[in-house]
Amino acid sequence: MDPKGEISEIRERALSEIASAQDEEEIESLRIAYLGREGRLTMILRSIGGLPENRRAEVGKEANAAKKAIEDALKDAQEALAQQPRKPSLDVTAPGVPVNLGTRHPLRLVLDEVLDIFVAMGYSIAEGPEVEEEWYNFTGLNIPEDHPARDMQDSYYVGQDLVLRSQTSPIQLRYMQTHAPRLPVRIVGPGRTYRRDTEDPSHSPVFHQCEALLVDKGVHMGNLRGTLTEFARRLFGDAVNVRFRPSYFPFTEPSAEVDVTCTNCWERGCSTCGGQGFMEILGAGMVHPRVLENGGYSPDDVSGFAFGMGIERLAMIKFGISDLRSLYRNDLRFLRQFGGRLR
Ligand code: DAH
Repeated sequence: MDPKGEISEIRERALSEIASAQDEEEIESLRIAYLGREGRLTMILRSIGGLPENRRAEVGKEANAAKKAIEDALKDAQEALAQQPRKPSLDVTAPGVPVNLGTRHPLRLVLDEVLDIFVAMGYSIAEGPEVEEEWYNFTGLNIPEDHPARDMQDSYYVGQDLVLRSQTSPIQLRYMQTHAPRLPVRIVGPGRTYRRDTEDPSHSPVFHQCEALLVDKGVHMGNLRGTLTEFARRLFGDAVNVRFRPSYFPFTEPSAEVDVTCTNCWERGCSTCGGQGFMEILGAGMVHPRVLENGGYSPDDVSGFAFGMGIERLAMIKFGISDLRSLYRNDLRFLRQFGGRLR
């Protein structure tokens, strides 16, 4: 192509590209593309020396004029850009994007309430491992290897002497061992527990418990009864009563199963409570002397009570949930019903 034709084409193209440049960066890259060391016009200017002598002046004049025009256009574009008000990065008048606030899970709500009640009574919160040594989960709690009570808690063994804890009771031993001989021992121990149960409306292989342990001089069953009555009334309302039924746990003697007034029929008997008028909420008892010893305390000097409750069960009673599995299905329509609003 004739160098003059090429120059005028470059010039036109450059001017139109510069005219539509949006920002500094684009302007700078156009400057490089046309006038930089390897720019299109620069190459032309450099090649002028190779033209026949009679054309040099004419083409050179044209090229310099094009260069000047492009430089001016770049300068103008830059100035125009500087005049423009900066685009705001945030339009404060635009309608907001709603934030999807979560709700606390019903299990968390109940557990928090339980813990608050005991903390208000002077208890501390203690925890323990979910992968637990067999000794803490069974043997140390007075459940020896061949004892049939082990069968009641069909467990997941995850290695030699290691088990996914089937109850939160091992927290009792771990706490006593690290705190003996200090008195009083006064703890609640919440946590996740595991049993080889098949899912059904009242069972899940993974569930939650909260343990409680109190050890001091002269603790007796009346203290246990008073504590549980107070606890039940704070959780379910002042109108409920507590009922003890004799039971058996290897780590307590005597042992009791503890029921609370059925809040559906108020002790008249209904289908929810199986006609009993009461609902079972937890197991309890006076700490077995062997367990105190295993924890490093002398049963001659001190005594204690303990109890353990299932959090799922409490949530079901408190919120009237009939199938435990709905607690794990992550259906927000279900989970949002219980007022666990986060703020
Ligand atoms: N660990 C028992 C269970 O899972 C519940 C229990 C009963 C805990 C009596 C206790 C207790 O501390 O004293 O069935």
